[in-house]
Amino acid sequence: MKKPAKTSAASSAKTPGSIDATLELLSGADYLADRSLATVLFLALRMGRPLFLEGEAGVGKTEIAKVLSETLGRKLIRLQCYEGLDVSAAVYEWNYAAQMIAIRLAEANDVADREKLSSDIFDDRYLIKRPLLQALEPNPGGAPVLLIDELDRTDEAFEAFLLEVLADFQVTIPEMGTIKAAEPPIVIITSNRTREVHDALKRRCLYHWVGYPSAERELAIVRAKIPGIGKTLSMQIVHFVQALRREDLFKAPGVAETLDWATALSELDTVALDPETVADTLGVLLKYQDDIARLDGTKAKALLDEVRAELRAAE
Ligand SMILES: Nc1ncnc2c1ncn2[C@@H]1O[C@H](COP(=O)(O)OP(=O)(O)O)[C@@H](O)[C@H]1O
Ligand SMILES: [Mg+2]
Repeated sequence: MKKPAKTSAASSAKTPGSIDATLELLSGADYLADRSLATVLFLALRMGRPLFLEGEAGVGKTEIAKVLSETLGRKLIRLQCYEGLDVSAAVYEWNYAAQMIAIRLAEANDVADREKLSSDIFDDRYLIKRPLLQALEPNPGGAPVLLIDELDRTDEAFEAFLLEVLADFQVTIPEMGTIKAAEPPIVIITSNRTREVHDALKRRCLYHWVGYPSAERELAIVRAKIPGIGKTLSMQIVHFVQALRREDLFKAPGVAETLDWATALSELDTVALDPETVADTLGVLLKYQDDIARLDGTKAKALLDEVRAELRAAE
């Protein structure tokens, strides 16, 4: 299949007209989605609804928003969530320092009109626009992609506030009035599910659980992202990682780790996996000492033997 040309961020493209077109759009930017993800994404774009993506870390949730913005030529606006995120970091904040300077200057120049001064310092120039406000403003390139990343890191109060914003795509700034998006942004919300996100918010969205890819798709991802990688090595890497995910680990490796490992092994000019190389590079795949310890030399060798047998049988 011929890949569609990569679109530049300068020109905004139409949203895809079918599930197949959605798959193709994503694969044009080397994002290999399964059909269920492409379906829900297609529907979210069609219905103008936020898409809520949940799944383990490193399975390609954040990347979806980046790829959409790139292929549709829309601006990407990212709100990275964290504990304690509040309106001043998510929506807007007044630039107090600049307002203070304006007041001092006015006083020095003996400006008499106090009322005018107080309306002057609450204008656009003193407003610091944070991601949610930026996403509601008119954008010359078309409605932007708004990525609300790792929502599970915030608290419920912020979630409730977000629910309001997503209901009407508007926010109210007391000193200025209500700002409403003429065209709602394309909203992608992600969660690593460190806690359950509230039903009310999920109900606003279309939902998809992003699982680990099948071996076949993961292999295609590795080969798309690391073009020079050898056939045997890439097969072994993918099957080893898939076998690792079946082990009882504290944190199983995501696609991000597979890609890192494949890059690392390519850097080391590895042609095929052997127990020693696996042991020496395990820190690229596993980030918890307990997991690394669980995969001691004999266990790693057993897994590798299993993978080799699996691949031999498939030949
Ligand atoms: N289906 C996929 N196709 C191509 N690359 C993928 C896919 N899934 C994951 N990746 C890659 O894996 C890495 C991690 O993805 P990311 O979106 O950061 O994960 P998450 O947000 O789920 O933690 C990125 O480099 C991304 O390109
Ligand atoms: Mg992410």
